[in-house]
Amino acid sequence: MRDGGIDKSLCGLVGNAERGRAIVAGRQGNCLACHAAPIPEQAFHGDIGPPLHGVAERLTEAELRLQIVDATRLNEHSVMPPFHRVAGLTAVRRDRIGQPLLSAAEVEDVLAYLQTLKQDQAEQ
Ligand code: HEC
Repeated sequence: MRDGGIDKSLCGLVGNAERGRAIVAGRQGNCLACHAAPIPEQAFHGDIGPPLHGVAERLTEAELRLQIVDATRLNEHSVMPPFHRVAGLTAVRRDRIGQPLLSAAEVEDVLAYLQTLKQDQAEQ
């Protein structure tokens, strides 16, 4: 159990795991730059962060949501980008100032996908 989490959906909607998987696998989330995940069609999986296999069994929904929104709330030295924070960032493209990397709905989609990641999954 961790110290923090966000209990409620950011936008009042339940995320869509299929859309979330596409965000995780693609350039928008770019999660595979740092994490391995059961996404076999992508050749490259990073190892800067822990593998995401079975993560739904290790962390609660609230903990997962906060990890995506702003990992630095859990670990101030985290290199994981804060995907739904806009304040206090120093290396933001000029045309993206004030815009989070992922919208509230996209965070919920990614969360819905992460919640499908159970250890007993056959995939990869
Ligand atoms: C630049 C590297 C980087 C990127 C990109 C990144 N992460 Fe992470 N992630 C980490 C690191 C490092 C950790 C270890 C904990 C910490 O430092 O926050 C982590 C931890 C996590 C955890 C907790 C895992 C556990 O077992 O405790 C989850 C869940 C997670 N990341 C999901 C994601 C998702 C989803 C994305 C894409 C939207 C993503 N990460 C993008 C580096 C990254």
